[in-house]
Amino acid sequence: MSKDIELAVKLLNAGEVVGIPTETVYGLAGNALNTDAVARIFEVKNRPTFDPLIVHTHSIEQFEKYVNVTDERVYALAEKFMPGPLTLLLPRKEIIPDLVTSGLDTVAFRIPNHPLTLQLLRQLDFPLAAPSANPFGYISPTSALHVNHQLGEQINLILDGGECQVGIESTIVGFAGNETIVYRKGGLSIEEIENVVGKVQIIEHSSSNPQAPGMLKSHYAPRKPLLLTSHDSEITSSNEKVAYLGFNELRADISAENQLLLSPSGNFKEAAKNLFAYLRDLDNRNVEVIYTSLLPEKDLGRAINDRIRRATVKD
Ligand code: TXA
Ligand code: MG
Repeated sequence: MSKDIELAVKLLNAGEVVGIPTETVYGLAGNALNTDAVARIFEVKNRPTFDPLIVHTHSIEQFEKYVNVTDERVYALAEKFMPGPLTLLLPRKEIIPDLVTSGLDTVAFRIPNHPLTLQLLRQLDFPLAAPSANPFGYISPTSALHVNHQLGEQINLILDGGECQVGIESTIVGFAGNETIVYRKGGLSIEEIENVVGKVQIIEHSSSNPQAPGMLKSHYAPRKPLLLTSHDSEITSSNEKVAYLGFNELRADISAENQLLLSPSGNFKEAAKNLFAYLRDLDNRNVEVIYTSLLPEKDLGRAINDRIRRATVKD
């Protein structure tokens, strides 16, 4: 782990993969135009190649080298929210390898809002393909240390940019005719997007449709069973070793030391920032089950609930 951008440039130019910070989660980055580097990303993450990658650049002008943009909504959203936690699905040009998009006609693009990574991108002649830097299916990393614990032995550098300020992945938006479609809820709320482009359609994930992005139902999961409970139902488990991840209220039926609140003051941004780190923390404790409950279904609560629901599904 280091802040050595020059070394990152050198390794990426040589086709290696590097851990990078973004405002959402840490990414595992490689040259998006180099098929060998992209293949290495899938290998290190143990990710199936039918799940396409997001490509990262540092400016809207850069996009135009790689995609065909004709839609006004793209510029409206890009100008308002980029850099930021928004990914756009755009018609790709030939230069983007099939492996990056899993053969789809669109490629996912975003401009991460992190000073270190923006500086890195400006020093490269190519964009960076980067999925979240976690083993496939596990909780996404929101610090360099998280990446180091899980992938440290397989990669030569993790750029340390501190804790991720947003804490959940970008919102993925695509276009079909006049429809604006949200394929993955994320760090930019639906409400903010609708303020710019009007009503959007939200695609809920399914495990049966690998074409839909963000998709596999079970994802972002801890190793311990994560169970949903509501505030009114008492946890009757005879098991002493239970933990609780709550939004803003502690429970009376679980020992206080095994409870973490995402935001005691009920702030959605703070809750998103803490979600993955707290899940990891509880997963590493001496408990057998983790209980959690859903947040109000609005603002970033929707994206947080999406991650919680998927982390509770075991299939
Ligand atoms: O915040 C983020 O987006 C982070 C940081 C590192 O930028 N990246 C991230 O990547 O979350 P990843 O690989 O964990 O998730 C990318 C999602 C996948 O669910 C994939 O299916 C979807 O984006 N995706 C990528 N390209 C797509 C495409 N052309 N069409 C549909 N879905 C796509
Ligand atoms: Mg991921």
